[in-house]
Amino acid sequence: MARRPFIGGNWKMNTDLATGKVLARTIAAEWGADVSRAEVVVFPPFPYLESVGQEIGLSSVALGAQDLSSEANGARTGEVSAEMLCDMGVRWVLVGHSERRHRLGESDALVAEKLAMALESGLQVVLCVGENLQQRHAGRTHEVVGLQLRSAFAQVPEEAVARIVIAYEPVWAIGTGVAATATDALEAHHEIRAFMSSRYDSELASSIRIVYGGSLVPGNAKTIFAAPGVDGGLVGGASLKAADFLSICSSAVIGIEAGRTGDSA
Ligand code: 13P
Repeated sequence: MARRPFIGGNWKMNTDLATGKVLARTIAAEWGADVSRAEVVVFPPFPYLESVGQEIGLSSVALGAQDLSSEANGARTGEVSAEMLCDMGVRWVLVGHSERRHRLGESDALVAEKLAMALESGLQVVLCVGENLQQRHAGRTHEVVGLQLRSAFAQVPEEAVARIVIAYEPVWAIGTGVAATATDALEAHHEIRAFMSSRYDSELASSIRIVYGGSLVPGNAKTIFAAPGVDGGLVGGASLKAADFLSICSSAVIGIEAGRTGDSA
């Protein structure tokens, strides 16, 4: 069965209440009536989840959070639990974003705990993996991504995998204006799918969605999405402009359709 394109807008620590609401309202108005084309999720900052949720309302655009605690509740000042997110109407959560791994020191073990907590709570997850520039130059991309995947999926039962989207986000491409080439993305996605095939089986590997993130803009999205095995994107900076984000959403549908003929993954 064809994999449905997935596009996430990761707003990071951007927008204010007013601009976030307008952004959400515009995306929902333009995209939200159509449930068939691509799955679109916005990930606003925690304080705006409720307001953004109200703006997207019953449209097909879904609400996501950028992080969650690995703990269910208790003495964790500043943390937000999975249950709190579910209370706010959140359906998706990012786990293991590189900014949390590298700037805030999240370990592979913590990422795995957060993934388990999200899945146990019924949330859907965008699990982010990717190598930094030094690792890439040392030829260690596959090894690094493989270690991240092995750790994250060590305890994930087969039946939970359908609720996970994997985002390949090379650290060197995030916020730099230097996107991976379609070939870079194709190769990495192929390796990730091969890992899923060995960890689970080939049927599951061919059903999981693997999306690309890192300096996606309207000008490069279609080319990257046409690479076989690329099922959409996780968009940072360009998700803050409704027109750019919507253009990337459209490109996902068109580009992925175009690439499918060559998709043997
Ligand atoms: P940019 O699109 O700004 O490079 O960010 C990508 C990203 O980190 C999405 O999660």
